Formats: sequence, C-alpha cells, structure tokens
Amino acid sequence: MSQCQFDYREKTVFVAGGTSGINLGIAQGFAKAGATLAVMSRSQNKVDTAIETLKQYGGRVIGFAADVRDVDRLKVVFEQTHRELGPIDVLVSGAAGNFPAAANEMSGNAFKVVVDIDLLGTFNVLRYSYEYLRKPGASIINISAPQAFIPMEMQAHVCAAKAGVDMITRTTAIEWGPEGVRVNSLVPGPIEGTEGMKRLAPSGSSCAKLVVDSVPLKRQGTVVDMANAALFIASDLASYINGAILPVDGGWGLGGAGQLGQSLATMAQLAKSAQVPDA
Ligand code: NAP
Ligand code: COA
Repeated sequence: MSQCQFDYREKTVFVAGGTSGINLGIAQGFAKAGATLAVMSRSQNKVDTAIETLKQYGGRVIGFAADVRDVDRLKVVFEQTHRELGPIDVLVSGAAGNFPAAANEMSGNAFKVVVDIDLLGTFNVLRYSYEYLRKPGASIINISAPQAFIPMEMQAHVCAAKAGVDMITRTTAIEWGPEGVRVNSLVPGPIEGTEGMKRLAPSGSSCAKLVVDSVPLKRQGTVVDMANAALFIASDLASYINGAILPVDGGWGLGGAGQLGQSLATMAQLAKSAQVPDA
C-alpha cells in the first residue's frame, strides 16, 4: 500500500501512547514525512525501542516513560517537550486499554481503569499540553474506536470511555477553534497485527474470521492506513475540518462491527460451559 507524501519538516509531533501498534504506526508516518517526534507511554523499554525505530527516518526523536493517569508527570513531560522541541504542531492522543469482559462480571475497578486511561487520560493529555500547542495552527487527533457509537457486548467499559473521547473531541473543537487549534477523532476499524485485535479477535479465531467477513472492504486495515489518515487530517489540506469523527475502517462501523460483540459473548459462554463439569 502506498504511503501518501506529506511534508512535516519543521513540525513537532507528540504521540501519547506512541510506542506500539496503531499509534507507533502513526508516529512512523509523521517521521517518514520529516517531523520531529516525541513519544510517550508507561514502559521505558517500549519508549526506548520506539525511539530507535523512529530515528531510522533521520529526524530528531525524544521519548518519555509516563502514565496518562499521572497529571504531575504529564506536566513535566509537556514542559520538557516544549523546552527541547518548541511548540507542538500535532498532538496524537491514543493511549488505551482493553479486555473483553461482561458488564455483570467485571469489577467497578475494571470498568474504571479503562475509563481512567482512555477518557480521563485523553482529557489529561489535551489539558496539560494545551499551553504548549502552536496557536494558531495546531492539530489534535484523538484515537477513538467503533465502540464509541456501536454498542458492543463485552465492551461496556470501552464503549463508555470512547464515546466520551469523541465528546471531548467535539467540545474542545468548539472551545479551542477560536485559538486556531483543530481537534478531530480518527476511528480505527480492525487493524491487523495490533494488541487490540489480539485481545478481541486473535488471528485464527472465529472472531477474526467474522471481523473480515463483516468489513465491507473484506480486509483488516493496516497501521499505514491509519498513518495516512493522520497525515491528511493534520495537514493544511484538512484546514477546515474541525470536530470531525472520521472512521478509517473499510465501512465496518456501518453495521458489521456490532457482530464482534455477539461473537465475544458467545465465546465467553462457550468457555464458561467448558469449565462446568458434567452433572
Ligand atoms: P497498543 O499497541 O496496546 O497501543 C496502546 C499504547 O498506549 C501503547 O503504546 C501503550 O504502551 C500505551 N498505553 C497504554 N496505557 C497507557 C497509559 N496508562 N499511559 C500511557 N500510555 C499507555 O494498542 P493498539 O491496538 O495499537 O491501539 C491503539 C489505539 O487504537 C487505542 O486508542 C485503541 O483504543 C485504538 N483502536 C485500536 C483498534 C485495533 O484494531 N487495534 C481498533 C479501534 C481502536 P505502554 O504499555 O508502554 O503504556
Ligand atoms: N477481565 C476482567 N477484568 C480485568 C481484566 C479482564 N481481562 N483485566 C484486568 N481486569 C481488571 C483487574 O482485575 C482489576 O480490577 P480489580 O482491582 O477489581 O481486580 C482492574 O481491571 C485493573 O487491572 P490492572 O491490571 O491493575 O490495571 P493496569 O492499569 O495495570 O492495566 C489494563 C490496564 C488492564 C487495561 C491492561 O490490560 C493494559 O495495560 N492494557 C494496555 C494495552 C491494551 O489494552 N491495548 C489494546 C488497546 S485497544
């Protein structure tokens, strides 16, 4: 698949959760286009590996081990990014957690941990980077999910959190638009080889087959598909797009995505009945 050609030389891009999967793929897209990068996630090992990966494209890269739930640490991270790299031109907020769990079986803390990372974490990243964004001109990309608008079994926590993320996108698009800051969500569909897919539809499982069958374009997406969308929406070509929720999903969100929840619930039932000894 071809990579779109955009020029991000002279631009600084910060990717929260940018050390693996989709977010690292997006960071790679910007690095290939000449951007200076800052990436952040909890694991110092993942940060170090991501820095090495991104440096291969020739630009400057810095990284931070930090948790989006830790406001004091975020303040330090953004202040240091500004000191070293100047104003942030593109901010990607994509840190998230997911596991399949039935609403009547997960603990309140299990629900809360996903809301804290995905929803409150997104707020924290936007809130504490705000003073360091380039104004006018900055573009913020929140990474959402089909669960934000499609109710999915075994995903009450993620549905609630990602619906909130899209509302943060819309409200900040209104509040920060006058400052020349655009805020949009990208909504990945099933993206191959990622942690999210391993958790919900591991390759070879019936869920994985159902996913491909239920995407109108009959394939999973790639991290390059996601990077291309991010390069576009952060670019001048998208300068009048603000507060948009853009699916990058082959049409999965038009209906097919809901079937994954039914499949996850069936798998959980089967697993449970296999554990019950015969009467
Ligand atoms: P991933 O590889 O696990 O990416 C998550 C990233 O966030 C990692 O870099 C992780 O690194 C970081 N992270 C997790 N918790 C964090 C925290 N508390 N503070 C800071 N960083 C944290 O998963 P992915 O599947 O590529 O998903 C990336 C994004 O796409 C997520 O927002 C997800 O909801 C969304 N999405 C994915 C799919 C899919 O098909 N995979 C579909 C729809 C939406 P550390 O472990 O080092 O913290
Ligand atoms: N089913 C039900 N509950 C689960 C669970 C599962 N599969 N996995 C974790 N939980 C619960 C825990 O039991 C705990 O609740 P408790 O205190 O009542 O026992 C709660 O969730 C918090 O778990 P913990 O492991 O302490 O959280 P953490 O902050 O260390 O990790 C996660 C966060 C759980 C989201 C972890 O899976 C993670 O780090 N994910 C990041 C990668 C990822 O999910 N990528 C895909 C993105 S789409």
